[in-house]
Parts: sequence; structure tokens; C-alpha cells
Amino acid sequence: MRAEDEKGVHMVGIGAFLTRRRRSIAAGLMFVAGLSIAFSGRSWADAGAGATLYKNTCIACHGEAGDGKGPSAKGLSPSPPDFTSPAFWADKTDSYLLHVITNGLGPMPGWGATLSPVDILNLLDYVKTFRKG
Ligand code: HEC
Repeated sequence: MRAEDEKGVHMVGIGAFLTRRRRSIAAGLMFVAGLSIAFSGRSWADAGAGATLYKNTCIACHGEAGDGKGPSAKGLSPSPPDFTSPAFWADKTDSYLLHVITNGLGPMPGWGATLSPVDILNLLDYVKTFRKG
């Protein structure tokens, strides 16, 4: 059973226990929750989980501010990019960036062997939060 299906079954179960009126309030709340998820970002990934992964795995090189000035970045060639710069994002697609994080690039190792695809999606969502402008 897929996670979406499980959620659906769960919601139907809850609905059966609610009165008609409560059910319409619950439906309204679910609608609002759905909208806020839909408008909160460009994907369903969890940037909060990404923040923790970033601290544990990426911050040493990419830096706390995402500007590529982490302590382990010294001496790397090329240097880690500046995620705060709109110019960095201008020509990068999600699928390219997911590929790079999974397989590595230059001095950066790939993370596909240690992190799950969902972790990598969450990381990409978090890394996007560094962008300024
Ligand atoms: C050992 C240092 C190091 C670590 C740790 C590291 N990176 Fe990198 N990363 C780099 C370097 C250096 C580059 C630039 C590579 C190049 O341009 O050849 C880079 C580039 C990138 C890029 C941009 C690729 C591009 O085309 O410009 C992304 C996105 C990225 N890293 C994400 C991550 C994420 C997410 C993590 C944590 C899972 C991570 N990196 C961990 C050093 C690191």
C-alpha cells in the first residue's frame, strides 16, 4: 500500500466518526492545510528535515550561510558555489542538482550511497532557502 493510500484510508476512518457538520469543518481545514502545503514551496519535500541533514553532511564545505565558505572548503578546487547568489540558480534544474548531490561533482563526493532519495530531495529544498533575491 502506498503512503498516499494509507492517508486516504485514515481520513475516511476519521470522517466516519465525525458528525456531518464537524466533517465539513474538517474538510475545510484539510483544504486549507493542503493549500498551505501547495503554496509553501515548489515541491512536497520537507526543508526542515533538509536543515538537519545539511548541518550533518554539507555545512563543513558549503558553510552555515550556504555561501560556500565552510571550514573544509579551504583548498578545494573548484570551491563550493555560493547558494545565496541568484546567478548560481539561473541555469540549474532540479534534476541536474539532484543528480549532482547523488553522484558528486569534482571535489564533492556523491551522497547516493549514504542518503536516501527523499533525504536528497529534502536537502535540495533546504539548499534553495539560501537563495537571496
Ligand atoms: C567535501 C566538501 C563538500 C561537502 C561535504 C559537500 N559539498 Fe557540495 N560541493 C562541493 C564543491 C567543491 C562543489 C563544487 C564542485 C564543482 O563545481 O566542481 C560542490 C557543489 C555542490 C552543488 C552545486 C553543483 C554545481 O553544479 O555547481 C550542490 C547543489 C551541492 N554541492 C550540494 C551539496 C549537498 C546537498 C551536500 C551535503 C549532502 C554537499 N554538497 C556536501 C563540496 C562539498
